[in-house]
Amino acid sequence: MKLKLAVLPGDGIGPEIMEQGLAVTKAICEKFGHELSYEYAICGADAIDKVGDPFPEETYKVCMEADAVLFASVGDPKFDNDPNAKVRPEQGLLAMRKKLGLYANIRPVTTFDSLVHKSPLKEELVRGADFICIRELTGGMYFGEKYQDNDKAYDTNYYTRPEIERILKVGFEYAMKRNRHLTVVDKANVLASSRLWRQIAQEMAPNYPEVKTDYMYVDNASMRMIQEPKFFDVMVTENTFGDILTDEGSCITGSMGLLPSASTGEHTPVFEPIHGSWPQAKGQNIANPLAQILSVAMLFEYFDLKEEGALIREAVDQSLNQNIRTPEIQVEGGDVYGTKEVGEWIVGYIKNK
Ligand code: IPM
Ligand code: MN
Repeated sequence: MKLKLAVLPGDGIGPEIMEQGLAVTKAICEKFGHELSYEYAICGADAIDKVGDPFPEETYKVCMEADAVLFASVGDPKFDNDPNAKVRPEQGLLAMRKKLGLYANIRPVTTFDSLVHKSPLKEELVRGADFICIRELTGGMYFGEKYQDNDKAYDTNYYTRPEIERILKVGFEYAMKRNRHLTVVDKANVLASSRLWRQIAQEMAPNYPEVKTDYMYVDNASMRMIQEPKFFDVMVTENTFGDILTDEGSCITGSMGLLPSASTGEHTPVFEPIHGSWPQAKGQNIANPLAQILSVAMLFEYFDLKEEGALIREAVDQSLNQNIRTPEIQVEGGDVYGTKEVGEWIVGYIKNK
């Protein structure tokens, strides 16, 4: 197929992991005869520095004209420690999600057998854990009415029925494709917004009789994820809860540098690692490129190019099995591989396959 990508490396380790993600994309396209074209665009702190806007109109245009966006990460400490900053890199990411209508964020929590010992949890709890968190991405407190002065501040957790219905539908459909177990995560014992979520989920559940649907408060879900991660198959939840739970999920797997995501909805889908920009590691060639590379796998799979996705996953598995690993997951006494070396190894594997 013809594949036109918007490439948004962003800040921190973004450009380094993107280089590897893009190299893998090229290798796959060459191997399978796809015609790849791509255009770089700026975002985040980089774009604030260059044009004063973390998601400039020109970047939006490049995204809208592409088949898919490959995104790395945004964020810079110089903004974190300035509560008065008028504009922040993260606003660029939120603007992208909103303007592209990306209401469904798919975050798989997959464990690798070769890495279970890196998990802070006991091996027997983690081995075989494999679930997907579907996070609502364009509503809730992130986008509801906000107010802040010196004495008070609020964020509104606003959700409408159509917003809830469309994301729950994604949840039920994923459950149908997997093990037919959907957990709706909310805080319906306290929050009105959650009560509406639960009500709508209960209305929809009879349309999916094959799916075992259960309802869990978010505090309980965060505990269950640690106690028994294998309980979950598909989890669906609102924006803020999903943000928090997926960081927790990434720990289960042993490294934050492993989890990819897909954000889909009305316009061009975006594929990005769930981790941030890790500014402290910038330019050091130590960041794990696997989350970015696995995001590329999700990109191909989104277009139903299953073999392409599978080959990337195989290459990643093999790199781990052969201890071609970045420092944070390397075994004791294992050789040192940087971002670049891991990426190059994976590209080599794909080419030689
Ligand atoms: C994520 C990130 C973002 C979020 C930040 C960078 C705005 O933490 O994608 O999970 O909170 O959604
Ligand atoms: Mn987050």
